[in-house]
Amino acid sequence: MYFFGPDIQRNADRAKLVALAEPDQGRRSSAIDDLGGDIRAYGDIEELLGDPKVDAVIIASPDFTHQELLDKALDAGKHVICEKPMATTLDDARHMARRAQAAPQVVQIGFMLRYAPMFVRIKEIVDSGIIGDLVQVSAAEIIEYYHGASFYRRWQRFRKNSGGLLVHKACHAFDVVNWIVGSAPTQVSATGNNDTFVAKPDAASRCRDCSLAPTCPAVYRDDAYNYVYPTVAERANPGELGNDICAFNSEKDIIDNATGMASYENGVRLSFNFATTGQRHDRRFMFVGQRGVVTASQADGTLVVEPVGGEIETTVLPEELRDEHGGGDEYLLQSFLDSVAGGEPPAADVVAGMHSLALALGATESIDRDGAAVDLRPHLEGLS
Ligand SMILES: NC(=O)c1ccc[n+]([C@@H]2O[C@H](COP(=O)([O-])OP(=O)(O)OC[C@H]3O[C@@H](n4cnc5c(N)ncnc54)[C@H](O)[C@@H]3O)[C@@H](O)[C@H]2O)c1
Repeated sequence: MYFFGPDIQRNADRAKLVALAEPDQGRRSSAIDDLGGDIRAYGDIEELLGDPKVDAVIIASPDFTHQELLDKALDAGKHVICEKPMATTLDDARHMARRAQAAPQVVQIGFMLRYAPMFVRIKEIVDSGIIGDLVQVSAAEIIEYYHGASFYRRWQRFRKNSGGLLVHKACHAFDVVNWIVGSAPTQVSATGNNDTFVAKPDAASRCRDCSLAPTCPAVYRDDAYNYVYPTVAERANPGELGNDICAFNSEKDIIDNATGMASYENGVRLSFNFATTGQRHDRRFMFVGQRGVVTASQADGTLVVEPVGGEIETTVLPEELRDEHGGGDEYLLQSFLDSVAGGEPPAADVVAGMHSLALALGATESIDRDGAAVDLRPHLEGLS
């Protein structure tokens, strides 16, 4: 509703949105109204896949459903964009990777940052050799507080649905780092915890009943964008609190912050931080080479190249390229359409999906094992 729908409509000379499948009747009819035009609505993916007008599908259902839907889409002969994370378990992801690699269709993972101008530029700079061979990377993913709180209210708060937030959210940062490093991760260790979004005895289970609501930074705002597509009926009753489950008292099994380190086959080392308590959203990076560094902040739109013996070069990206997606969605779609038309296979492929997932699930396992190093190589063997 927010990314691919409008992007397809903006690329009407190359693609047409012909159908959508959505099991929830209210969401289905609202989506049809909002998208407008001649779009067929199905309650079930099987019906949509039987529609001869459909050449390609975008899987944008909860993370744990991706494997089953990819199988069905490939069985039906469709090209696929599968939203990130590719899956929530390495078994599912490995199965998907094998299937995709054996299929004639295009399968692309929704890692839009690979197509966002800031990261395309960083990759060019690093590959140009201007800062020498890459040695280290530091990466921080900081989610804005209210956005963070939304995860502790929704399906993402259970690992069985999302794999946890390193999988569901940090997968983007892991993916662009993997891409820029240009190598497979081999080992990861991390510590992390749920430190902030823990049970508050004084808080109620619903914001509407809570005496702490007036000063609570996570209080559900019925007039705000709540990171969920609202149906027409929900929008007609803006005074009705919707999913105002307490982000602190909700049942959950995911962590809200993590710190870790990883290594790559080519010797590069990564340190990373993840937090959901930011004043604003940002991803911050430092790429350290043998002859200089590159630093970047997605929210500030700044990209600074500092080569040893050279001039410091600062680029400030325009406002529209500074949000979480960095302007990458439409380029991702166009790259997919190029691949479907016989062009190069997508950069954000199933191997990228596996590498990001292995790093994220390995870090999650390491957190469970008090920071023990997790060897990723057995999971990634034979992938190319
Ligand atoms: N690329 C990005 O940055 C980005 C941003 C947001 C979400 N996502 C991904 O998009 C996916 C959806 O996330 P969301 O926040 O929109 O979730 P959501 O819960 O708001 O929407 C998911 C929809 O899928 C429907 N659904 C469930 N099972 C289905 C099935 N078998 N067939 C068809 N539809 C089914 C649900 O009814 C729901 O309406 C997730 O994988 C998420 O990680 C990616």
